Amino acid sequence: MASSETQRHSLHGQWSSRLAFILALSGSAVGLGNIWKFPYIAGVNGGGAFVLVYLVCVFGIGLPIMISEILIGRRGRRNPVSTMAFLGEEEAGNKHWGLVGLLGVMASFLILSYYSVVAGWAVAYIFEAGSGALIKIDAQSAVRKFESLTGSWVISGLWHTFFMILTIFVVARGVKLGLERAVRILMPALVALLFLLLGYSMIEGNFAEAFVFMFAPKFSELTAEGVLSALGHAFFTLSVGMGAVMAYGAYLSNEASIIKTSIAVVTIDTAIAILAGLVIFPIVFAHGLDPAEGPGLIFQTIPIAFGQLPGGRIVSTMFFLLLAFAAWTSGIALMESPVAWLMETTGLERWKTAIFVGIAIWLIGFLSVLSFNKFSDVELLWGTFFQSFDYLTANIMLPLGGLAIAIFTGWTMCANSTSDEVDPSVGRIYRMWRVSVKFIVPVAVFLIFLNAVGII
Ligand code: TRP
Repeated sequence: MASSETQRHSLHGQWSSRLAFILALSGSAVGLGNIWKFPYIAGVNGGGAFVLVYLVCVFGIGLPIMISEILIGRRGRRNPVSTMAFLGEEEAGNKHWGLVGLLGVMASFLILSYYSVVAGWAVAYIFEAGSGALIKIDAQSAVRKFESLTGSWVISGLWHTFFMILTIFVVARGVKLGLERAVRILMPALVALLFLLLGYSMIEGNFAEAFVFMFAPKFSELTAEGVLSALGHAFFTLSVGMGAVMAYGAYLSNEASIIKTSIAVVTIDTAIAILAGLVIFPIVFAHGLDPAEGPGLIFQTIPIAFGQLPGGRIVSTMFFLLLAFAAWTSGIALMESPVAWLMETTGLERWKTAIFVGIAIWLIGFLSVLSFNKFSDVELLWGTFFQSFDYLTANIMLPLGGLAIAIFTGWTMCANSTSDEVDPSVGRIYRMWRVSVKFIVPVAVFLIFLNAVGII
């Protein structure tokens, strides 16, 4: 536990309980990454072997970094940039660690800009489902429906705008107002609905083929790029590597156990991703769809499943509603660290900062909206703007940020400071964590990078 001279308080208040923190952190972690992105990139990368590498990365690399981030955040109790600069100074006389926080703030901007576009699609599908337009829809019309949404920059731009307004609204009022209560109800509802869908997929879908696809590793299908995207996705899905967890950790009470909290959040996040895969792939295989379809995968499969289910209109409306909510709680968390940083450095009020940051992200988001229509031929380093933002953030910025965070807690902070923050009842896990942030994480991330650029 932190000793009295290291006890600091955050300007932005504290979570009401450890459960509230677990819920807020899972609310940030569970989002489009689990339900939209995980199935689609698992599909693109051939399934089983990718899933295995992803699981190893989540527990072997993502979990230790989550522990590091909460620890740093709670010890510094400032926004991620100032916290890193402050602790860097305190531990090693080096303020340049603040740059790691800045990299994270940049990643927040870029991620939210395209995240909001996909979240906008989810919102659009609430209305599609609610109007009955998905009833008895066949595979071909489902594909066409998705393409007509993304093909129109005006329509998808409007939904993107709508989602950004909702997100700005909550961040402007302060993250803890309302968010805690919402997540407490929405997360269990999302899980319940996924189980209902799982029942459908087991009965009506090709569950056996999906199971083999997801869990029988075929290493011949896995490329070095695939390994990098499994690593990148482990960071993305847990929201680590960019200071977002640090920002939430700054509002955690000194008594809460960081290790137990992190294990809970990582387990919930992983379970939901696997569940989403087990819902979607049986439908993909039963309807002869392509698992490597890409970002449209869930928007083209879920409607087919629901369209045939009795009561499907209501259930599918609820599904997209919950997906949009899951995206919303993540979007809020994505905005929190840039807003906290700008507020503290400029002295501007929260609501003004939130609107300013929100408008900037909203504008950048149009590059992603246009990637599916007017700019679909524009090729940057990693494809369209949408693809490039995704690649740059998930596969490069987050692993680099995570690497720096691991090195900071493993090498720069002294052992007394880190053990100060950790629950003494989990001593063995604490030692495992130290070994992983000192050696395992840095070496693994480094090797995966070298591998992806073709050096080994
Ligand atoms: N974890 C979120 C998801 O799976 C996405 C995300 C990445 C995120 N980084 C974040 C959310 C930072 C909040 C804060 O959908």
